[in-house]
Amino acid sequence: MKLNIAVLAGDGIGPEVTAQAMKVLNAIAETYSHTFVYRHAPVGATAIDQTGNPLPDETLNLCKKSDAILFGAIGDPKYDNDPTAKVRPEQGLLRLRKSLGLFTNIRPVKAYPTLINKSPLKKEIIKGTDFTIYRELTGGIYFGDKTLSQDGTIASDLCKYSKSEIERVAHLAFKAARNRRKKLTLVDKANVLETSRLWRKVVTKIGESYDDVSLDFLFVDNAAMQIILNPGQFDVILTENMFGDIISDEGSVIGGSIGLLASASIGNHNALFEPIHGSYPQAKGKDIANPIASILSAAMLLDHFGLKEEAYFINLAVEKSLELNIVTPDLDPESIFGTNKIGDFIADYILSADDTISLNKENINFGQSTII
Ligand code: IPM
Ligand code: MN
Repeated sequence: MKLNIAVLAGDGIGPEVTAQAMKVLNAIAETYSHTFVYRHAPVGATAIDQTGNPLPDETLNLCKKSDAILFGAIGDPKYDNDPTAKVRPEQGLLRLRKSLGLFTNIRPVKAYPTLINKSPLKKEIIKGTDFTIYRELTGGIYFGDKTLSQDGTIASDLCKYSKSEIERVAHLAFKAARNRRKKLTLVDKANVLETSRLWRKVVTKIGESYDDVSLDFLFVDNAAMQIILNPGQFDVILTENMFGDIISDEGSVIGGSIGLLASASIGNHNALFEPIHGSYPQAKGKDIANPIASILSAAMLLDHFGLKEEAYFINLAVEKSLELNIVTPDLDPESIFGTNKIGDFIADYILSADDTISLNKENINFGQSTII
């Protein structure tokens, strides 16, 4: 298969982790005879510095004509603490999502058995956790009208949803549940918000045509509590934009590091793949950032194009690295392995699949296509 991939590495650790994802994609291309063509374009603070615009037209056009987008991270402290800044890196990502109509954001959350002791949560609680969040991505309070009174003392953000915006993401979530453990939980705030009541009504109606999937509802405050009390109860969580943003960061605690969580943002014509973590500017250039979220996002990219075995292979290689404790310092402060080495290990594991049987930490030959 040939895929044209737009690479928007962005800010902070974005370029470093994205480079590892490309390394792993190249290993897959070589193993399975695929062709992945990468074209790079600026976004976020990097793009503001170069052009004054966090999403230059050339970047957007490149994304539109590519099969997929591999996204790194955006954000820079020089904008975070300046509420008066007119142009912000995040606008680049939000405009990209909206312009490409990427209405569904899929965020899998999993407790890897080998990392079970690394989570701040008790292992009895997180053991076996495996759920996926379907977050609506182009509506709600993120994109509703915003106002600020002339004297700067009153502000508002409108949360608005239409039936069709809810329907399209709900269908994808029900289909996912159908292929998993057949349970869907709608997270909302229907005891307070009119938009949430519309979500319940629309999702309940759609649920009738997925009668093999059981549907339940949780208020978001309760859901926030349940995710850390009993995460094993969840299979697919469907929720609106803002709630999904919040509970997915919360979910990342289960896995032991936010550096493990990948995501896919899907629309009718385009798809973007990105780690859920931010640009982690303190780690930039230090070779300590965890590239796994970016590598797993590349696996989601392959899965999106039906390359199931290839995606599975990446997951397997990632699990192997975790099993052997070939991890970055976020998972093991004593670790001697950096961002690059993790990418090398995972790519090498894929390239030398035949002779990985007696793999152990002592005899791994990094940066070469052999693991013996
Ligand atoms: C995310 C991020 C973004 C969001 C920011 C960077 C705009 O937190 O992808 O979760 O809020 O959606
Ligand atoms: Mn977020």
